[in-house]
Parts: sequence; C-alpha cells; structure tokens
Amino acid sequence: MSNAKFELDGKVFEFPVIEGTEGEKAVDITKLRGETGYVTIDSGYGNTGSCTSAITFLDGEKGILHYRGYPIEQLAEKSNFTEVSYLLLNGKLPTEAELKAFDKAIADNSELPAGVKTILDAFPKDAHPMGVLSSVVSALTAFYPELLGAELSKSEQDKSIAQLMGQVKVAMTYFFSKSVGKAPKATNAALSYSEDFLSMMFNSNDAIDPEVVNALDILLVLHADHEQNCSTSTVRMVGSSHANIFATIAAGIDALWGPLHGGANQAVLEMLEEIQNDGGDYKKFLEKAKDKNDSFRLMGFGHRVYKNFDPRAKIIKKACDTVLTKLNVNDPLLKIAKGLEEEALKDPYFVERKLYPNVDFYSGIIYKALGIPTNMFTAMFVLGRLPGWLAQWKELRESGARISRPRQIYTGETARDYVEMNKR
Ligand code: CMC
Repeated sequence: MSNAKFELDGKVFEFPVIEGTEGEKAVDITKLRGETGYVTIDSGYGNTGSCTSAITFLDGEKGILHYRGYPIEQLAEKSNFTEVSYLLLNGKLPTEAELKAFDKAIADNSELPAGVKTILDAFPKDAHPMGVLSSVVSALTAFYPELLGAELSKSEQDKSIAQLMGQVKVAMTYFFSKSVGKAPKATNAALSYSEDFLSMMFNSNDAIDPEVVNALDILLVLHADHEQNCSTSTVRMVGSSHANIFATIAAGIDALWGPLHGGANQAVLEMLEEIQNDGGDYKKFLEKAKDKNDSFRLMGFGHRVYKNFDPRAKIIKKACDTVLTKLNVNDPLLKIAKGLEEEALKDPYFVERKLYPNVDFYSGIIYKALGIPTNMFTAMFVLGRLPGWLAQWKELRESGARISRPRQIYTGETARDYVEMNKR
C-alpha cells in the first residue's frame, strides 16, 4: 500500500499506511513529531487509533460487532458469559475441558478476604455500588501483595483474572445483601456465572428461572467488550504505566461510571421515571433534548461509533420483550421507551445526527424486571465488561507497549517573570 504524503512548511513527508484484517486503514504517524516537529490535535480521539488490537472489531456504519471474529448475534444466542470471557481472553473458543477449568478457577478464587468484607461492612448502606466496587478492587492490592509486580507469571496472571471475575461478583452481591439487611449467600460452584450471581443477589435456594438466567447472560455477553471506548482506553492508559492489575481495573470502573458512558443505563431509567412522573408526555422531553439551551440529553441515545444502529440494542430490545412477557411484568416505562424511540427515529434532529438507541436504552428495563436496583445498573455493566478490560490489559502487556503519554498544544501565558507579593 502506498505511503501517505503530508506537505508541511513546503516539505513533503511520507508516512506508512497500515490496514487491519477487516480493511480499516490508518496513517501511522509514530514518527511525525520526530520528522516534522508537529503533533496532531484530535479532541476526544475521534480519529486516533491508540493501538492495534485483535480482540474486538466493530463497524459503526454497518452496525457490526465481532468478538475475536465471531458475530455478537451468534454469541448472544448460542454462547454464554464465561465462554465469551474465555474467548476474549484467549482468542479462541474453549474446549469443554478448558471451559470447565476456567469456570472452576473463577469459583475457586471468588472468596473475599475477611478484611475486604470488613471494608464492605463499613460502607454506608446507601453508598453508590460503583464507588464501593472501585474502592474494593483497589483494596484487593492490600491483600495480594504477591500479585502487584510489574511482570506476572502466566499462573499469577490467570489467578488474578479469575479472582477479579469471581470476587467482583461476590463483592456486589455481598454489599447488596448487607445493604438490605440480609445475610450474604456464598458462591455456588455448581451454578453458571449468571445463575450464581442471581442466586447470591436474591439469597435464593431455589433454582432461578432459566429464562431469567439467560436474559442476564445475554446482557453480560453484549457488554463484554467494545474495543477502545473511554473505560477500556483508561485501562490501557493506566496499564501502560505498569500499574498493577487491580489498580488498573479500578480505574476502568471509575471511567465507566460517568453518565455519558456506562452510567447511562442508570440515567436512562431515571429519565424514563421522570417522564412518567411528569405525566408521560415523552414528546416534551424530545423537544428538551433538541433544545441547545437545555442541558437535557436523551439518555441511551447516540454513540460515538455507531451511526446506523447499535447491534447490541437490537438484541436487547428483543430480550426485553421476552423477559417482560415471561415474568408477566407490565412496565409502563417500556411503553414510554418505545414511544420515545419511535418519535426520535423519525425526528429530523435525531435522523440528521444519526442518533439511535444504544446498548443502555433498554438494558435498564430488563435489570429492573430482574429486580436489580437502579443504582446497581452501572455495576452490572462492570460485571459484563470485566473480561473485556482484562483481555485488553493482557494484550497491552503482551505487546510490550510504551507508556501512554499524549502531547498537547500549550495555549497559556508565555514566559514571564515572577513578581513578589508586596509588588503585585
Ligand atoms: N440527545 C440529544 N442530542 C444528542 C445526543 C443525545 N443523547 N447525543 C448526541 N447529541 C447531539 C449533540 O448535541 C451534537 O449535536 P450538534 O452537532 O448540534 O452539536 C451531536 O448530536 C453529536 O453529539 P456529540 O456529543 O458530539 O457526540 P459524541 O460522539 O461526542 O458523544 C455520546 C457520544 C454517546 C456521549 C452522546 O451521544 C451522548 O451523550 N449520549 C447520551 C448518553 C449515552 O447514552 N451514553 C451511552 C453510550 S453507549 C454505552 C457505552 O458507553 O458503551
């Protein structure tokens, strides 16, 4: 492929063009500053490829999402969360024995150290689960000093990955149980990841309805990775300094919390409730979202990359109908959500800006039907996204990437002399 040519200050510079396996093209400007003295400015990184990666492919124009080459539709329908996690982490589908061993490793490493339980017990009952999770994942550094080194052996890496997948699940359900005054239930290695979560969450000794387990599994699979989004880029940024795996994942959790990212699922439900409490006139809220003098945004709508439809939203909308019918839930919020979507999709403001429902638009209605409290929705996103963050961290470390260190263009005062206090 021919090089890209840039003309700067009358001189022509050439930079290589690289092409991904799905035909995406990039100009490799690694040597730009060294050769020209210039840097690039790309606010929000909309045009910047921060790495090459073999984990997730998405085509926002066509609404395509693949994990390791497998279409998300097939994985959501036929696979399950730990199989998808194994796939993301290892690049191939597991054999039966490999999946069994992976599930066992997660179960064997799920127990929380007594000190972590004490920390969880000390949080106010109404603490936001995202703050709790981020703190607890950071706190794990105190209990596993042997896993804090810059270079982990293969077995240490496998252990810390299994541990994070198991312990985050247990910490979430432990904190929830305590916050509603129930005794936390122990993990059960005989159950699938999703069933175990639901059984600990609701302190149930009965088998959970397979349709409910399946709905949660689909949600976790759909959230498992999404290439270089804000939280994943944060994980790569922090991981590039060789910070330990727990600190790195805690940073990802914090980045996910924002309402423009993972926090949108909680914000969507609160928005739908606000519309309901206001009398249900969703058209009024559409007008607010279009008004540039109003800070209100239609939460669960729009995406930096998807400009046609979000394939995850399509699957979730269908799952939402199935779960609500199965559970015999008649949620008026679903009617408001569908009305909002229908109106927005024919409104020129949303059409021109290519704003479609994203993964978070319907997920909250499913979580609500499953009995998950609203302030825990974003923590559910964490549970789903963990294998993706871990796979991206692993790929980053294995690639020997340099520390992430962007440049800037300085726009402040030019050099000036200090003036002593009594002369100002
Ligand atoms: N409601 C109203 N207007 C919107 C919305 C929205 N939800 N999203 C974008 N716009 C407008 C925006 O005002 C701008 O208009 P104009 O060109 O007139 O200035 C135009 O559309 C482009 O928006 P942008 O903010 O430049 O787009 P972005 O790529 O920087 O932001 C986004 C993407 C997802 C942050 C944004 O669409 C948004 O805030 N959506 C609501 C929050 C949300 O649902 N987030 C979850 C994303 S999916 C889950 C995940 O994070 O993985």
